[in-house]
Amino acid sequence: MAHKITLIPGDGIGHEVVKAVVRILEATGVKFEWESFAAGAEAYEKYKEYIPKELVESIERTRVGLKGPVTTPVGGGFASINVALRQKFELYANFRPIKNLPHIPTRYPDVDLIIVRENTESLYSGLEHEVVPGVVESLKIITEKASTRIAKFAFKYARENQRKKIHAIHKANIMKLSDGLFLRCCRNVAKDYPEITYGEHIVDNTCMQLVMNPYQYDTLVMENLYGDIISDLCAAFVGGLGLVPSANLGDHCAIFEAVHGSAPDIAGKDIANPTAVLRSSLLMLRHLGENEAADKIRTALYNVYSHREKLTRDVGGSAGTSEFADSVIAEMQK
Ligand code: NAI
Repeated sequence: MAHKITLIPGDGIGHEVVKAVVRILEATGVKFEWESFAAGAEAYEKYKEYIPKELVESIERTRVGLKGPVTTPVGGGFASINVALRQKFELYANFRPIKNLPHIPTRYPDVDLIIVRENTESLYSGLEHEVVPGVVESLKIITEKASTRIAKFAFKYARENQRKKIHAIHKANIMKLSDGLFLRCCRNVAKDYPEITYGEHIVDNTCMQLVMNPYQYDTLVMENLYGDIISDLCAAFVGGLGLVPSANLGDHCAIFEAVHGSAPDIAGKDIANPTAVLRSSLLMLRHLGENEAADKIRTALYNVYSHREKLTRDVGGSAGTSEFADSVIAEMQK
């Protein structure tokens, strides 16, 4: 039976990288039925809606999405489609594994970090208003419910995957009430997991500690904004944003997408690296129980990186997006 998947190619480099990944997924022999929809500015042109009703209904039906990046206008315009989808479907856990690929030289070999980012609240609540001209208020929402839920997710993941340590990342020295509540929830959940070492670090210090020695950390749990920033920082450990996957997970649905954005600086040139979306699709395959296909792609991907002949520019090669996908497919068929 075919897996029904809602496909959101996105914009910018989205079309290119998602198309490459769909070709690789289809070459595994697993059957997919794609329900494809535009989102954001492209959707507005077609449907006069940034998130078309049909897209929402499709995710409600399929419960699984594979998504490319969607551009969000800066300093005005429509609100982030990415944030809206996470909130709409209560995809409260943003799971971001940071692991090196073979033969990509970086300053930090053998990094193995898990970032667990709360995905539905904090400063992403979108509650902003101008109090008087020249004064704007932006509300950071932290709730006991969402903080406990993300802490439970992180600890459960750690227990099930033999991870040893969790750090909650915060700024509770300044945001005493909001980040203080987040920490209290993490501490309460930690009590049920005595085998996991629990620590707390302030977010600015964490940035420095990560750059000095990322190996001191194992699993990091944090609210939305810190998770956004720290993920990009950690992407640099393993070769950049072209490589890092993520899963937006809720109790009923899941949407898999790269950590990176729509990269307008390289869009339409067939030079973007599809590895981040491909690795996100491996998380999707495992979510669907298609472990054999996931292993097959992962082996092929590692072989392509080991041969170093068909890599994209961001990791020192000169191959195009589609050429890279061709070589992953050729490896799978060997
Ligand atoms: P970005 O992640 O799109 O790009 C940052 C840098 O990384 C750029 O130099 C870009 O060329 C490079 N890069 C990103 N992905 C790459 C890939 N696959 N291969 C090679 N190089 C890659 O971040 P930026 O420029 O800050 O954001 C652009 C737009 O994307 C904004 O509108 C932003 O809101 C949106 N965005 C969307 C996300 C999503 O859909 N989940 C996530 C992050 C940003």
